[in-house]
Amino acid sequence: MGCVYMLEQRLVIEGGRRLEGEIAVQGAKNSVLPLLAATVLCKGKAVLYNCPRLTDADAAFRILDCLGCRCIREKSVISVNAEQMSNNQVPDSLMQDMRSSIVFLGAILGRCGRCRWSTPGGCDLGPRPIDYHLDALKKMGVAVENDSGFMSCTAPKGIQGAKISLPFPSVGATENIILAGVTAKGKTEIHNAAREPEVVDLSDFLNKCGAKIAGAGGSTIVIDGVDGLSGAEHTVIPDRIVTATYMSCAAITRGELLLTKTKHDDLSAVLPIFELMGCSVYTYDKDRIYINARKAMNSPGKIITHVHPGFPTDSQPLIMALTTVLPGTTIFEENIFECRFKHAPELVRLGAKINVRERIAVVEGVERLSGANVKATDLRGGAALVTAGLACDGITRISEISHIDRGYEAIEEVLRSVGARIRRS
Ligand code: EPZ
Repeated sequence: MGCVYMLEQRLVIEGGRRLEGEIAVQGAKNSVLPLLAATVLCKGKAVLYNCPRLTDADAAFRILDCLGCRCIREKSVISVNAEQMSNNQVPDSLMQDMRSSIVFLGAILGRCGRCRWSTPGGCDLGPRPIDYHLDALKKMGVAVENDSGFMSCTAPKGIQGAKISLPFPSVGATENIILAGVTAKGKTEIHNAAREPEVVDLSDFLNKCGAKIAGAGGSTIVIDGVDGLSGAEHTVIPDRIVTATYMSCAAITRGELLLTKTKHDDLSAVLPIFELMGCSVYTYDKDRIYINARKAMNSPGKIITHVHPGFPTDSQPLIMALTTVLPGTTIFEENIFECRFKHAPELVRLGAKINVRERIAVVEGVERLSGANVKATDLRGGAALVTAGLACDGITRISEISHIDRGYEAIEEVLRSVGARIRRS
């Protein structure tokens, strides 16, 4: 039997084209996923607008379907009715499809008081432990048993409100505690909570459904448990990392872009970096950013990733791609994930000069990059290669682009619409 090669698609980019035009930014991947999980708690119909078409969103949709929820997607609108939810087990295959499916745990426990699931795998950013999630849920009365790779979580006396201090402001753990706490008995306090905009979006939706959550966006969140939640309608916030990605694409091609349907308040740590590099950045209304990169640019010096409202780790690969062709030396300090520089060797294949040692990467700007065959190592690393490919001499071919499709809706169509020569083949 001969080898059967699954020829995965690639992105093929002919570099050297300046980007000019307007892009409407998609809804946030890291918001739509917890929002879809939250619909499990709703005893009624929930409608989510501005849902991006992403493989991660498709995976969440399949989990909901598997749990017995009635789900319908019509373009960017997803309706979910969890009233007839009949299952509290997430199949192994679906858990492995997407690391962030862990956020369904809190929602299923909040709805059913029990959940059986397989521990989500690590991912491309290093081990992705879930100890903060499980420690918090145990404090809320959840018994966690590991039986041969499966986790069985039960709350024999129902989920109890608790006072929880997170060792680290974990986004996923904060979201899971909120999802388990909204229908818990009593009050839950989260100290050292994550402050990301996606946590606020989740809280806003749940409060529309009748939850009593106060303080989201700050380090202390207080949740008063209620008996049950109704459905509600909600619009997913814009994707701040996709916004930063297309700004990087404009900057590396010395172009100019108008980004609409975005939310510049969520990019308060990122926009100044573009200005520091020499871009002109104008924000107006609440949802528009204009970037012009026609002037000479230079290195921003040092980029240190922090939890929100600091510089977001998800934007680090994109800014790194841009700095590979800026005069000067840029130092990146990655403080959130253990190994979030896997895109660096792929950028070096394009001619970049990057030295990585543990959580530090040093980029020496070069005159030119040259197209080559490279592979996406993870979601944002793949987007970094697209960004760099736009500035390469010649053709860049990017394989393993399923990583990119997890978080970017039709990236080649979006970039082509503003002048890039890019196709999926
Ligand atoms: C969310 O991941 C995002 N994903 C990530 O975006 C983002 O990079 C990250 O938050 C940080 O902002 C989604 O929202 C779906 P964490 P999450 O829990 O929740 C450690 C992208 O590219 N940790 O805040 O998994 C963990 O290992 C993705 O869109 C524990 O040690 O991130 C990491 O080092 C990538 N134990 C740090 O905390 C735990 O129980 C931050 O993780 C949980 C986390």
